[in-house]
Amino acid sequence: MAKEYKRYLVTSALPYANGPVHIGHLAGVYIPSDIYVRYLRLRGRDVLWVCGSDEHGVPITIKARREGTTPQQVVDRYHELIRRSFERLGISFDIYSRTSSAGHARTASEFFRRLYDQGDFVERTSMQYYDEEARTFLADRYIVGTCPRCGNERAYGDQCEQCGSTLSPDELIEPRSAVSGSVPVKRETKHWYLPLDRYEEFLRGWILEGHREWKSNVYGQCKSWLDGGLQPRAVSRDLDWGIPVPVEGAEGKVLYVWFDAPIGYISFTQELTPDWERYWKSDDTKLVHFIGKDNIVFHCIVFPAMLRAHGGYILPENVPANEFLNLEGEKISTSRNWAVWLHEYLDDFPGKEDVLRYVLTANAPETKDNDFTWKDFQARNNNELVAVLGNFVNRALVLTKKYFDGTVPACGALMPADEAALAELEGIRGALEGHIEHFRFREALKEAMNVARIGNKYLADTEPWKLWKSDPDRVRTILYLAIQMTARAAVAIEPFMPFSAAKILRMLDAGHIDWERLGEHELIAAGHRIGEPELLFEKIEDDVVQRQLDKLAATKAANAAAERSQNIEKQKDTISFDDFGRMDIRIATVVAAERVAKTKKLLRLEVDTGLDRRVIVSGIAEYYTPEELVGRQVPVLINLAPREVKGIRSEGMILMAADTDGRLRLLAPSEAVASGATVG
Ligand code: 2FM
Ligand code: ZN
Repeated sequence: MAKEYKRYLVTSALPYANGPVHIGHLAGVYIPSDIYVRYLRLRGRDVLWVCGSDEHGVPITIKARREGTTPQQVVDRYHELIRRSFERLGISFDIYSRTSSAGHARTASEFFRRLYDQGDFVERTSMQYYDEEARTFLADRYIVGTCPRCGNERAYGDQCEQCGSTLSPDELIEPRSAVSGSVPVKRETKHWYLPLDRYEEFLRGWILEGHREWKSNVYGQCKSWLDGGLQPRAVSRDLDWGIPVPVEGAEGKVLYVWFDAPIGYISFTQELTPDWERYWKSDDTKLVHFIGKDNIVFHCIVFPAMLRAHGGYILPENVPANEFLNLEGEKISTSRNWAVWLHEYLDDFPGKEDVLRYVLTANAPETKDNDFTWKDFQARNNNELVAVLGNFVNRALVLTKKYFDGTVPACGALMPADEAALAELEGIRGALEGHIEHFRFREALKEAMNVARIGNKYLADTEPWKLWKSDPDRVRTILYLAIQMTARAAVAIEPFMPFSAAKILRMLDAGHIDWERLGEHELIAAGHRIGEPELLFEKIEDDVVQRQLDKLAATKAANAAAERSQNIEKQKDTISFDDFGRMDIRIATVVAAERVAKTKKLLRLEVDTGLDRRVIVSGIAEYYTPEELVGRQVPVLINLAPREVKGIRSEGMILMAADTDGRLRLLAPSEAVASGATVG
């Protein structure tokens, strides 16, 4: 028998305030948790939902340095952008706060201090990377190098984004500072560690024995961490952005972002209600953390160990973590701007909040990574929202308007087709509840949409428009039932698509309808006058999605250009004017060209230098055919010492541009000049 809880406390991972929110965040965390909480509220449960911006940590300070501003300015900007865009999408947190607030700092400091006073930390001095140029220790993302597992040359000191491995700075090959680019040295520093090994037995029992019902991805990750053996984890950092470590002798040290952030769940609840202890400190509260898969270890192992050490707090009852959402087949990336940003979507698609909510739920990465494509977005809108839900609601309302002037007709005797549709609707409430309570939101959404599917089929089967003349009484019953189904659809979709649910109710001119009535026969009484029908969803045309695809193509091109520009060669040592003057560069004309036998890269060219006709061997066969070269004018360094290449004496060098990817390109005078013209 499942335990009965008196109240719910729901948290969603705190987004970092170093960038806007994108569709990956939404599909992974915020839309599922919004559905869950809206559902609980509809069922009249006592629920609090807390979230806020995660405003500490190295990426924020790096961003501030790059932009020449302060970390506070960075988080102020993104906190407001994120808060506002969540609100526009109808994400209905009870509080959206931030970890740079004074209240949070107080709660997090007290938490640390309590563990410190209880002797729950171990103090350790170790050698850590230090940037002598920037005069700073290099924690986490301040240090980059080659990943020892996959060879990615841009892995961070805490994680490799290419292969997903968790790393420590010491594991990086050829580490360098992300701040100055210099090679770091090792310096001694002291930190406080949470000895996770001390909690291993407790965690094994609590998770591996006690929570076999957790999603398999979550349970599996926990098991592999626990089977691998837990190590002490540093909970402080040498940084100047964060909550100061509240003990003597800790100048210049702050709490590690992953120590303070989850405490935000507590401090934000304190900010929300003076009654916070009732939620955090009683066993009949169900605590649920919604997160993405990269947060599993922190929410299932580290934070529970912290809570356990502190004492007095409940532990999460479930941690429904989703996998990742990709975009057009590639990993979403904030730094590479490969994302659909929520605030941009809201600007580009006004009034289509529910379309995004729908698509991201229907395609949520619940059990495996999934892909968002604009074509799928368009297809789901046009074939599901417009053709199924919108079409049904519109037909029911328009026909009622047409035949009965908008007054809901009375129900007569039920025919087999009516009974069959009602029987099908019968099971939907139970199925919906089962799926939502077990965090299966895709399945739940399918059930909600089934109301409209059943309704559409019902109208297609009964064809009231053909009966109006011959059997108006039958049409009364059909449209009475169609209106009831429309109201049921509104209730069923409300957790998923609150804007559309409200619009249907408005068109029905009905007030709020309780969730419990989803299983009832009559939701709108006969004789009630409905409001004006409007279209619930509109078709999305090809040019609209093409614009989004063009935007992504532009991002890809910009990334490729940026990547190429990173390969630009450094400037060589300074030379004197005389050094330069000793080079004799002339424009020459290619008069003959052929491949050098048994080589891929070499061409044998004969050029007219104006002074003579000579042979030059050039490594451009991969980029030009011999025929393309004859007749072209090229700059040649003619006084370069001759050398032997594949048995051919080469007298000079053709000057070319080597692009950042290594491709060679010929140079030419912008207008024809005489062979022998000097260059300088
Ligand atoms: O991964 C992230 O985006 C983190 N900012 C999540 C923090 S969740 C919590 F513990 F605060
Ligand atoms: Zn890697």
